[in-house]
Amino acid sequence: MSAALKRAGAGAPRHFLELLDIDSGALRRMLDIGLRAKRGELTGKPLAGKHIAMIFEKPSTRTRVSFEVGIRQLGGEVVSLAGKDTQLGRGESPADTARVLSRYVDAIILRTDRVAKLRELAAHATVPVINALTDVSHPCQLMADVMTFEEHRGPIAGQVNAWTGDGNNVARSFIQAAARFHFRLRLATPPELAPPAELIAQARAEGADVELFTDPFEAVRGARCVVTDTWISMSDDKASIRQRHNLLAPYQLNSRLLAAAAPDALVMHCLPAHRGEEITDEVIDGPQSVVFDEAENRLHAQKGVLLWALGLA
Ligand code: CP
Repeated sequence: MSAALKRAGAGAPRHFLELLDIDSGALRRMLDIGLRAKRGELTGKPLAGKHIAMIFEKPSTRTRVSFEVGIRQLGGEVVSLAGKDTQLGRGESPADTARVLSRYVDAIILRTDRVAKLRELAAHATVPVINALTDVSHPCQLMADVMTFEEHRGPIAGQVNAWTGDGNNVARSFIQAAARFHFRLRLATPPELAPPAELIAQARAEGADVELFTDPFEAVRGARCVVTDTWISMSDDKASIRQRHNLLAPYQLNSRLLAAAAPDALVMHCLPAHRGEEITDEVIDGPQSVVFDEAENRLHAQKGVLLWALGLA
Protein backbone atom coordinates (compact mmCIF):
# COMPACT_ATOMS: atom_id res chain seq x y z
CA MET A 1 0.00 0.00 0.00
CA SER A 2 1.36 3.44 -0.87
CA ALA A 3 2.07 6.01 1.85
CA ALA A 4 -0.71 8.18 0.43
CA LEU A 5 -3.23 5.37 0.71
CA LYS A 6 -2.07 4.61 4.25
CA ARG A 7 -2.63 8.28 5.20
CA ALA A 8 -5.99 8.27 3.48
CA GLY A 9 -7.09 5.86 6.17
CA ALA A 10 -7.75 2.48 4.64
CA GLY A 11 -8.79 1.33 8.13
CA ALA A 12 -6.98 1.61 11.44
CA PRO A 13 -3.77 -0.41 11.58
CA ARG A 14 -3.90 -3.73 13.39
CA HIS A 15 -1.41 -3.19 16.20
CA PHE A 16 -0.19 -6.10 18.31
CA LEU A 17 0.51 -4.32 21.58
CA GLU A 18 -1.16 -6.25 24.41
CA LEU A 19 -3.08 -9.53 24.39
CA LEU A 20 -6.03 -7.92 26.14
CA ASP A 21 -6.35 -5.46 23.22
CA ILE A 22 -7.15 -8.32 20.86
CA ASP A 23 -10.05 -10.76 20.94
CA SER A 24 -9.60 -14.48 21.50
CA GLY A 25 -10.70 -15.37 17.97
CA ALA A 26 -8.02 -13.21 16.36
CA LEU A 27 -5.32 -14.57 18.67
CA ARG A 28 -6.42 -18.11 17.90
CA ARG A 29 -6.28 -17.31 14.17
CA MET A 30 -2.68 -16.10 14.56
CA LEU A 31 -1.73 -19.37 16.26
CA ASP A 32 -3.43 -21.39 13.54
CA ILE A 33 -1.47 -19.48 10.88
CA GLY A 34 1.72 -20.00 12.86
CA LEU A 35 1.09 -23.74 13.03
CA ARG A 36 0.38 -23.87 9.31
CA ALA A 37 3.67 -22.05 8.73
CA LYS A 38 5.44 -24.57 10.96
CA ARG A 39 3.96 -27.47 8.99
CA GLY A 40 5.05 -25.87 5.70
CA GLU A 41 1.46 -25.31 4.59
CA LEU A 42 1.76 -21.59 3.81
CA THR A 43 2.14 -21.26 0.08
CA GLY A 44 3.99 -18.51 -1.77
CA LYS A 45 5.69 -15.50 -0.21
CA PRO A 46 2.91 -13.54 1.50
CA LEU A 47 5.26 -10.74 2.61
CA ALA A 48 6.76 -10.20 -0.86
CA GLY A 49 7.12 -6.46 -1.45
CA LYS A 50 6.68 -5.66 2.27
CA HIS A 51 9.32 -3.82 4.28
CA ILE A 52 9.35 -4.10 8.06
CA ALA A 53 11.38 -1.94 10.46
CA MET A 54 12.63 -3.51 13.67
CA ILE A 55 13.94 -1.24 16.44
CA PHE A 56 15.57 -2.90 19.41
CA GLU A 57 16.39 -0.53 22.25
CA LYS A 58 17.28 -3.52 24.44
CA PRO A 59 19.34 -6.66 23.78
CA SER A 60 17.68 -9.65 22.15
CA THR A 61 18.63 -12.99 20.65
CA ARG A 62 15.38 -14.92 20.16
CA THR A 63 12.98 -12.10 19.33
CA ARG A 64 15.25 -10.34 16.92
CA VAL A 65 16.47 -13.42 15.05
CA SER A 66 13.07 -15.15 14.95
CA PHE A 67 11.35 -12.05 13.56
CA GLU A 68 14.10 -11.38 11.05
CA VAL A 69 14.27 -14.96 9.80
CA GLY A 70 10.47 -15.29 9.80
CA ILE A 71 10.01 -12.13 7.73
CA ARG A 72 12.60 -13.26 5.20
CA GLN A 73 11.08 -16.76 4.98
CA LEU A 74 7.73 -15.11 4.19
CA GLY A 75 9.36 -13.08 1.40
CA GLY A 76 9.60 -9.71 3.20
CA GLU A 77 12.48 -7.29 3.71
CA VAL A 78 13.73 -6.20 7.13
CA VAL A 79 15.39 -2.99 8.25
CA SER A 80 16.85 -3.77 11.65
CA LEU A 81 18.05 -0.96 13.90
CA ALA A 82 19.59 -0.77 17.34
CA GLY A 83 17.79 1.94 19.30
CA LYS A 84 21.01 3.85 19.97
CA ASP A 85 21.63 4.14 16.22
CA THR A 86 18.31 5.88 15.63
CA GLN A 87 17.20 9.43 16.36
CA LEU A 88 14.51 7.84 18.56
CA GLY A 89 17.39 6.82 20.81
CA ARG A 90 18.62 10.43 20.86
CA GLY A 91 15.29 11.94 21.85
CA GLU A 92 13.24 12.26 18.63
CA SER A 93 9.65 11.74 19.68
CA PRO A 94 7.98 8.37 19.13
CA ALA A 95 5.15 10.29 17.41
CA ASP A 96 7.45 11.84 14.79
CA THR A 97 9.32 8.55 14.38
CA ALA A 98 6.01 6.81 13.74
CA ARG A 99 4.90 9.39 11.17
CA VAL A 100 8.18 9.07 9.27
CA LEU A 101 8.57 5.30 9.39
CA SER A 102 4.94 4.85 8.31
CA ARG A 103 5.91 6.46 5.00
CA TYR A 104 8.73 3.98 4.42
CA VAL A 105 7.66 0.63 5.80
CA ASP A 106 4.62 -1.63 6.14
CA ALA A 107 5.02 -2.47 9.85
CA ILE A 108 7.16 -1.49 12.83
CA ILE A 109 8.44 -3.88 15.51
CA LEU A 110 9.70 -2.24 18.71
CA ARG A 111 11.46 -3.51 21.84
CA THR A 112 11.74 -0.82 24.49
CA ASP A 113 11.85 -0.53 28.26
CA ARG A 114 9.26 2.26 28.21
CA VAL A 115 5.79 1.09 27.33
CA ALA A 116 4.75 4.74 26.91
CA LYS A 117 7.10 4.92 23.93
CA LEU A 118 5.43 1.92 22.29
CA ARG A 119 1.98 3.37 22.88
CA GLU A 120 2.92 6.79 21.48
CA LEU A 121 4.50 5.14 18.44
CA ALA A 122 1.35 3.10 17.84
CA ALA A 123 -0.94 6.10 18.34
CA HIS A 124 0.79 7.95 15.51
CA ALA A 125 1.71 5.13 13.13
CA THR A 126 -0.44 4.43 10.12
CA VAL A 127 1.07 0.95 9.83
CA PRO A 128 0.84 -1.91 12.34
CA VAL A 129 3.12 -1.73 15.39
CA ILE A 130 4.20 -4.95 17.11
CA ASN A 131 5.33 -5.16 20.74
CA ALA A 132 8.62 -7.07 20.88
CA LEU A 133 8.81 -6.63 24.70
CA THR A 134 8.39 -3.68 27.01
CA ASP A 135 8.93 -3.18 30.72
CA VAL A 136 5.34 -4.36 31.31
CA SER A 137 4.62 -7.09 28.77
CA HIS A 138 5.91 -9.61 26.24
CA PRO A 139 2.89 -10.80 24.23
CA CYS A 140 4.88 -12.46 21.42
CA GLN A 141 6.41 -14.76 24.03
CA LEU A 142 2.97 -15.86 25.21
CA MET A 143 1.86 -16.71 21.69
CA ALA A 144 4.79 -19.12 21.47
CA ASP A 145 4.11 -20.46 24.97
CA VAL A 146 0.48 -21.26 24.24
CA MET A 147 1.47 -22.90 20.96
CA THR A 148 4.08 -24.99 22.77
CA PHE A 149 1.70 -26.11 25.52
CA GLU A 150 -0.92 -27.17 22.97
CA GLU A 151 1.57 -29.06 20.81
CA HIS A 152 2.57 -31.16 23.83
CA ARG A 153 -0.62 -31.40 25.85
CA GLY A 154 -3.59 -30.42 23.65
CA PRO A 155 -5.99 -27.54 24.24
CA ILE A 156 -4.82 -25.17 26.98
CA ALA A 157 -8.33 -24.01 27.93
CA GLY A 158 -9.19 -25.10 31.46
CA GLN A 159 -5.65 -26.36 32.19
CA VAL A 160 -3.74 -25.16 35.26
CA ASN A 161 -0.54 -23.25 34.52
CA ALA A 162 1.69 -22.05 37.35
CA TRP A 163 4.22 -19.24 37.52
CA THR A 164 6.94 -19.08 40.14
CA GLY A 165 9.20 -16.07 40.69
CA ASP A 166 9.11 -12.42 39.75
CA GLY A 167 5.80 -10.87 38.67
CA ASN A 168 7.62 -9.37 35.69
CA ASN A 169 6.62 -8.43 32.14
CA VAL A 170 6.30 -12.06 30.99
CA ALA A 171 4.18 -12.92 34.05
CA ARG A 172 1.94 -9.98 33.21
CA SER A 173 1.44 -11.23 29.67
CA PHE A 174 0.67 -14.67 31.14
CA ILE A 175 -2.14 -13.04 33.09
CA GLN A 176 -3.51 -11.48 29.91
CA ALA A 177 -3.14 -14.80 28.07
CA ALA A 178 -5.17 -16.55 30.78
CA ALA A 179 -8.08 -14.27 29.90
CA ARG A 180 -7.77 -14.73 26.17
CA PHE A 181 -6.93 -18.46 26.00
CA HIS A 182 -9.12 -19.43 28.96
CA PHE A 183 -6.57 -21.35 31.05
CA ARG A 184 -6.25 -21.28 34.81
CA LEU A 185 -3.23 -19.39 36.11
CA ARG A 186 -1.66 -19.59 39.55
CA LEU A 187 1.15 -17.16 40.25
CA ALA A 188 3.53 -17.43 43.18
CA THR A 189 5.61 -14.33 43.81
CA PRO A 190 7.01 -12.53 46.83
CA PRO A 191 4.40 -9.95 47.87
CA GLU A 192 6.83 -7.15 46.96
CA LEU A 193 7.12 -8.45 43.39
CA ALA A 194 3.49 -9.35 42.72
CA PRO A 195 1.96 -8.21 39.43
CA PRO A 196 -0.10 -5.01 39.65
CA ALA A 197 -3.53 -5.39 41.26
CA GLU A 198 -5.11 -3.32 38.44
CA LEU A 199 -3.91 -5.81 35.84
CA ILE A 200 -5.27 -8.75 37.84
CA ALA A 201 -8.60 -6.96 38.19
CA GLN A 202 -8.70 -6.12 34.49
CA ALA A 203 -7.91 -9.70 33.49
CA ARG A 204 -10.50 -11.09 35.92
CA ALA A 205 -13.08 -8.68 34.49
CA GLU A 206 -12.26 -10.25 31.11
CA GLY A 207 -12.93 -13.71 32.54
CA ALA A 208 -9.42 -14.76 33.62
CA ASP A 209 -9.17 -17.42 36.34
CA VAL A 210 -6.06 -16.06 38.12
CA GLU A 211 -4.98 -16.85 41.68
CA LEU A 212 -2.09 -15.25 43.55
CA PHE A 213 0.09 -17.10 46.05
CA THR A 214 3.19 -16.41 48.07
CA ASP A 215 3.97 -20.13 48.54
CA PRO A 216 5.27 -21.63 45.26
CA PHE A 217 4.41 -25.19 46.39
CA GLU A 218 0.76 -24.22 46.75
CA ALA A 219 0.77 -22.53 43.36
CA VAL A 220 2.28 -25.43 41.42
CA ARG A 221 0.24 -28.19 43.07
CA GLY A 222 -1.20 -30.31 40.25
CA ALA A 223 -0.24 -27.81 37.53
CA ARG A 224 0.19 -29.09 33.97
CA CYS A 225 2.88 -26.51 33.22
CA VAL A 226 5.30 -24.62 35.48
CA VAL A 227 6.91 -21.44 34.21
CA THR A 228 9.59 -19.16 35.55
CA ASP A 229 11.82 -16.36 34.31
CA THR A 230 14.92 -14.42 35.23
CA TRP A 231 15.00 -12.70 38.59
CA ILE A 232 16.48 -9.52 37.09
CA SER A 233 14.67 -8.23 34.02
CA MET A 234 16.28 -5.77 31.62
CA SER A 235 14.27 -2.87 33.02
CA ASP A 236 15.07 -3.64 36.69
CA ASP A 237 17.25 -1.46 38.87
CA LYS A 238 20.58 -3.29 39.01
CA ALA A 239 21.27 -1.83 42.49
CA SER A 240 18.56 -4.12 43.89
CA ILE A 241 20.08 -7.40 42.65
CA ARG A 242 21.04 -8.76 46.08
CA GLN A 243 17.65 -7.89 47.60
CA ARG A 244 15.79 -9.48 44.66
CA HIS A 245 17.88 -12.66 44.87
CA ASN A 246 17.08 -12.96 48.58
CA LEU A 247 13.37 -12.44 47.94
CA LEU A 248 13.22 -14.84 45.01
CA ALA A 249 15.44 -17.71 46.22
CA PRO A 250 12.44 -19.66 47.65
CA TYR A 251 10.78 -19.50 44.21
CA GLN A 252 13.55 -21.33 42.34
CA LEU A 253 12.19 -23.93 39.91
CA ASN A 254 14.08 -27.01 41.07
CA SER A 255 13.28 -30.74 41.21
CA ARG A 256 11.61 -30.48 44.61
CA LEU A 257 9.21 -27.78 43.43
CA LEU A 258 8.53 -29.50 40.11
CA ALA A 259 7.64 -32.70 41.98
CA ALA A 260 4.67 -30.86 43.50
CA ALA A 261 3.18 -30.26 40.03
CA ALA A 262 1.33 -32.86 37.94
CA PRO A 263 3.61 -35.79 37.05
CA ASP A 264 3.50 -34.82 33.37
CA ALA A 265 3.89 -31.07 33.97
CA LEU A 266 5.79 -29.19 31.28
CA VAL A 267 8.55 -26.77 32.21
CA MET A 268 8.81 -23.48 30.37
CA HIS A 269 11.20 -20.54 30.53
CA CYS A 270 11.30 -17.83 27.88
CA LEU A 271 15.11 -17.67 28.04
CA PRO A 272 17.74 -16.42 28.56
CA ALA A 273 18.02 -18.55 31.71
CA HIS A 274 20.27 -17.90 34.66
CA ARG A 275 20.99 -21.50 35.57
CA GLY A 276 21.30 -22.06 39.29
CA GLU A 277 19.22 -18.95 40.01
CA GLU A 278 15.57 -19.09 38.91
CA ILE A 279 15.93 -22.62 37.48
CA THR A 280 18.31 -25.51 38.05
CA ASP A 281 20.21 -27.39 35.36
CA GLU A 282 18.44 -30.64 36.16
CA VAL A 283 15.03 -29.05 35.55
CA ILE A 284 15.82 -26.99 32.45
CA ASP A 285 17.69 -29.93 30.91
CA GLY A 286 15.27 -32.53 32.26
CA PRO A 287 12.64 -34.61 30.44
CA GLN A 288 9.77 -32.25 31.29
CA SER A 289 11.45 -29.16 29.86
CA VAL A 290 10.19 -27.81 26.53
CA VAL A 291 12.19 -24.57 26.61
CA PHE A 292 13.83 -25.06 23.24
CA ASP A 293 10.53 -25.96 21.55
CA GLU A 294 9.23 -22.77 23.15
CA ALA A 295 12.14 -20.79 21.68
CA GLU A 296 11.59 -22.35 18.24
CA ASN A 297 7.91 -21.53 18.35
CA ARG A 298 8.71 -17.82 18.55
CA LEU A 299 9.55 -18.12 14.84
CA HIS A 300 6.28 -19.83 13.92
CA ALA A 301 3.87 -17.96 16.20
CA GLN A 302 5.23 -14.57 15.12
CA LYS A 303 4.55 -15.39 11.48
CA GLY A 304 0.91 -15.61 12.50
CA VAL A 305 1.18 -12.27 14.31
CA LEU A 306 2.79 -10.60 11.29
CA LEU A 307 0.30 -11.92 8.74
CA TRP A 308 -2.64 -10.98 10.96
CA ALA A 309 -1.24 -7.48 11.63
CA LEU A 310 -0.70 -6.88 7.93
CA GLY A 311 -4.20 -8.09 7.09
CA LEU A 312 -2.80 -10.94 5.02
CA ALA A 313 -4.51 -13.73 6.92
N1 CP B 1 12.60 -14.57 25.31
C1 CP B 1 13.11 -13.51 24.66
O1 CP B 1 12.42 -12.51 24.38
O2 CP B 1 14.41 -13.64 24.32
P1 CP B 1 15.34 -12.47 23.76
O3 CP B 1 15.49 -11.44 24.86
O4 CP B 1 16.64 -13.15 23.42
O5 CP B 1 14.68 -11.87 22.56
